[in-house]
Amino acid sequence: MQKTIPQPWLDFFQKHAQELTSEQVQPFLDQVTSVQWPLVAELVDEHVLGHSAQNSDQDFSSLAPADFIGLETSQADQSAVLAGECLIQNGQVGVVIVAGGQGSRLGFNGPKGVYPIGAVTGSSLFYFHARKVLSVSRKYGKPVPLLIMTSPENDPATRAHFESHKYFGLNPEHVRFFTQGQMPAVDRTTGQPLFSDRNTLALSPDGHGGALYALSRRENEDGLTALEWAERFGVKTLFYFQVDNPLVRIADPAFLGLHSQAQSEVSFKVVSKQAPDEKVGVVCQSPDGRKLVIEYSDLPAHLAEAREPSGELSYRAGSIAVHIFQTEFLKRLATGAIRLPFHKAIKKVAFWNPQTGQIHDPQEPNAIKFEAFIFDTLPLAERSLIVETDRREEFEPLKNATGPDSPSTVRSAMTRIAAKQLAKAGVKVPLDNLGQPLYAIELDPCFVVDQDHLKPTLGPDLKISGDLSLVD
Ligand code: UD1
Repeated sequence: MQKTIPQPWLDFFQKHAQELTSEQVQPFLDQVTSVQWPLVAELVDEHVLGHSAQNSDQDFSSLAPADFIGLETSQADQSAVLAGECLIQNGQVGVVIVAGGQGSRLGFNGPKGVYPIGAVTGSSLFYFHARKVLSVSRKYGKPVPLLIMTSPENDPATRAHFESHKYFGLNPEHVRFFTQGQMPAVDRTTGQPLFSDRNTLALSPDGHGGALYALSRRENEDGLTALEWAERFGVKTLFYFQVDNPLVRIADPAFLGLHSQAQSEVSFKVVSKQAPDEKVGVVCQSPDGRKLVIEYSDLPAHLAEAREPSGELSYRAGSIAVHIFQTEFLKRLATGAIRLPFHKAIKKVAFWNPQTGQIHDPQEPNAIKFEAFIFDTLPLAERSLIVETDRREEFEPLKNATGPDSPSTVRSAMTRIAAKQLAKAGVKVPLDNLGQPLYAIELDPCFVVDQDHLKPTLGPDLKISGDLSLVD
């Protein structure tokens, strides 16, 4: 066992290991040695026991709303579009999907990317993302390498989904899965690591900030890191997004172009927050001009509610978690001395009690989980850029089983956009009194040449008289 495990935990694990059967011991020890215990001990000290000097609340008094490129400029800049297209044509652009989360709010049993979101065919979130990547790669005649971050828990099911769907038409050699790390859940009052059953620690994904380290970890049989694998294709720029948002404009040339023209190391897309309590992180700015994201759960109410004389929210640059990263920037951070901070989340975690030998399902949150967030890379950049986009076109995430950000809102947004694209191609789309399409519509992203144009094979001859699904 690792010598660096704090003594009381080491004693406990060693005593516990002696009580396990010979088959149980090795997997248990493998799990224990996979954890960075000194880091966990530091976090417990800081976040649970409150001993650390760093245990101070963030100072919000000097924060200002972030400057960003507004919607009108970002959408009208043709030179940016050309610059972005040039990057894709030169094979410099790769795509990263973070898909390692547990999706507990959605209550779906399986990787969130496998969720059948298609309004007509029930195709998965991964289908829509992969087909968009394929469409971009076909349009520009270059492979667009796709990196998918999984967790140890959902990795096999994610790979199996891609395999059983023949990678949705992508060349499997242009797709790479990489797995994020895990952190133990600890008891919220004692800081003791929890067990999910007698032989197993309660581990969970280390947050999408884990991508920073997982991209630079040598884990596959070819001895390359995921970043090195992408760089072999010539990739220098990564278009990053979360698996839960099927509206994302993957490898959006305008965004890529603005990023490249500004020589930005990391760029963020934002939408104007609709209400003070909308659950999106807000991009802010410190007095030295550095940008940073304050997560919705941390933004003080007086800032969330502050308004401009015009009535709009002052702190309104809501992150939709669509980013562009230079690979050099990510490598610099991953190999440097800086570690992304861990944030604590207080959760209900079922646990095995060593005293009673029983598994308990708590009614109240009993545990702390630690997660790193990728947006904490933003203040570490020398140059960064924040670009506004239109939420109706690009942001409708799948978070909840019902209500806002649920399958029904996502499907209706996808249908609305497909209808708009069809209407532009000259197809008459039957609408109800509120201007919503009468039928569910689903377009294979390979039909969409760019956001405004569909393949010319579709036109006014197409008659819609029921739910419609068009597959390329
Ligand atoms: C997230 C952002 C929020 C942003 C919003 C936009 C965080 C902490 N907050 O909120 O600022 O405005 O999305 O939709 O992320 N994931 C992993 N591994 C993990 C954890 C998460 O890959 O260990 C992935 C999930 O698969 C998911 C995404 O990250 O795709 C978002 O995670 P989630 O916990 O749902 O974040 P939100 O609270 O929705």
